[in-house]
Amino acid sequence: MSTTHFTSANIQSWERFYRTNFINCLSGFKSATLIGTNDTAAYPNLAIFSNIVHIGAAPALIGFINRPLEAAPHTLSNIKATGIYTMNHIHTSLIKAAHQTSAKYASGVSEFEKTGLTIEWKENIPAPFVGESKIKYVLELEEIVPIKQNGTYFVIGKVAAIFLEENIVDEDGFLHIENAGSISSLGIDGYYEPHFITRLPYAKP
Ligand SMILES: Cc1cc2nc3c(=O)[nH]c(=O)nc-3n(C[C@H](O)[C@H](O)[C@H](O)COP(=O)(O)O)c2cc1C
Repeated sequence: MSTTHFTSANIQSWERFYRTNFINCLSGFKSATLIGTNDTAAYPNLAIFSNIVHIGAAPALIGFINRPLEAAPHTLSNIKATGIYTMNHIHTSLIKAAHQTSAKYASGVSEFEKTGLTIEWKENIPAPFVGESKIKYVLELEEIVPIKQNGTYFVIGKVAAIFLEENIVDEDGFLHIENAGSISSLGIDGYYEPHFITRLPYAKP
């Protein structure tokens, strides 16, 4: 099969949506998660995010990229205001509802109500969870790092509590998230069901 190549000048010349799709797919499969937040009046917000990354385990830090505020305002401003948010894994039957949370609803409109996803509250945790989600956790805001190149933000949170089904956790702490049906995403609108291939021993030189 023949291959092709593109230069940065090619990339810049592409039509906006073509470029968005192409470059978003380029870095590969990602986790897709629903982030639940509250505004200061305790009004809930839910949105899908896929640019999520493990930063470190001690302390347990997870980060995500938030687009510029004018494009995606609610999650970030709620996190700034309250300092607390939830991440909720998505399984296959939730994909359509989860995707719909990316619509630009006005502030004060609950994506839980609009998509039919169940809002769930847990004691002493002032941020909403997705009831249907099988793996969910709470993050406390540590830092918001502005990315000067494009106006996005890297939001860093510390894991404060975790809720998941017991059969997902292996003896050594590995999580078989495929047992919960957690999906992967690609680009801005592709969704996949990953399957387990193998685990390998710690590599030595
Ligand atoms: C599959 C998928 C992945 C997305 N990932 C991100 C992401 O990582 N960061 C981001 O800022 N927006 C992402 N979005 C867009 C947000 O979901 C969208 O902007 C949403 O309206 C933000 O809502 P908010 O203003 O309530 O925070 C994604 C959308 C989809 C469909």
